[in-house]
Amino acid sequence: MYVLGIESTCDETAAAIVEDGRTVRANVIATSVKEQALYGGVVPEIASRRHAECISAVADKALADAGLTMDDIGAVAVTFAPGLIGAVLVGVNFAKGLAYAAGKPLVPVHHLRGHIAANYLTHPALKPPFLCLVASGGHSHIVLVEDWCRYKVLGRTVDDAAGEAYDKVARTLGLAYPGGPSIAAAAKHGDPHAYKLPVPHVEGKYNVSFSGLKTAVINEVHNAAQRGEPVDVAGMAASFQERIDQILARKLLAAAADTGARTVCLAGGVAANGRLRQLVNDGAQKLGAQVYLPELKYCGDNGAMIAAQGYYEYRDGNLADWTLNGLPTLAIDYR
Ligand code: KG4
Ligand code: ZN
Repeated sequence: MYVLGIESTCDETAAAIVEDGRTVRANVIATSVKEQALYGGVVPEIASRRHAECISAVADKALADAGLTMDDIGAVAVTFAPGLIGAVLVGVNFAKGLAYAAGKPLVPVHHLRGHIAANYLTHPALKPPFLCLVASGGHSHIVLVEDWCRYKVLGRTVDDAAGEAYDKVARTLGLAYPGGPSIAAAAKHGDPHAYKLPVPHVEGKYNVSFSGLKTAVINEVHNAAQRGEPVDVAGMAASFQERIDQILARKLLAAAADTGARTVCLAGGVAANGRLRQLVNDGAQKLGAQVYLPELKYCGDNGAMIAAQGYYEYRDGNLADWTLNGLPTLAIDYR
């Protein structure tokens, strides 16, 4: 069955067609990231406007790229939560109109479930149960994926999300938005031991906290400015990346060891980070667990991951009617 997936929760307007939850037939993404970079972060109003302008063309292109028409599509899946509400609503309303007009079922998809499903696009053998770290601009969760549509959250951030910390630290260092790729690029030329950054204490064995780490970077930069000294930007980028990735990997691997997980995955924009991928790969191998990582092109927001999860939600009977609404927040285990 072909599922058309629509995604518009942040600054990517995306549509994709995936066959049986696994095989990508088309994957089209229009992004307002360059415009957002002018403001150092996502301006919700700009994101919504760009979605409204291009969503129709993006969906048309996905069908054209796949050589299909709406008659061939089995269901329309759309991210309905969580995200910037004005942005989410553009995708939800477009998907409702499309599904209604074509007489197709409408499938609501949770954004983080979609990120996790990005792993299914690359790894045909992967199936639940597995343990997954989902790290994006808005969320950092350690999740036990018990079944295709059943999740247990073991840990989460108590303050900033990992991607948010990357973005804020990049901004402090004068690096471009989005911060993750900028920090990773700068870190290549830096010494990860250049600055001694704190390991934040946090309640809950699998919870993480990044606000203290972010503040430590801000303080170092301010103190250097007051002393009239230059900041070693590459060294700070490398030290921050090493610290935050060590924390994420350590928590995920501790959860893997404690739960006896046989399979470990990464998901979300931060899953594109090379050092994090290396740390998780090495650590999981030591535990004797199988590691699956999403392809880099499916780590950030895209429609293929929504179509993939949409297929499993459809099989699970999770269908929406025409009253479907978008939600700014929603737990991953809402259903
Ligand atoms: O999943 P995503 O594309 O959007 C949300 O759902 O939020 O994640 C975006 C986040 C941004 O904070 C961005 O800085 C971060 O993912 N990111 C990275 C890398 N690429 C993107 N963080 C670390 N290293 C990267 N290579
Ligand atoms: Zn995302």
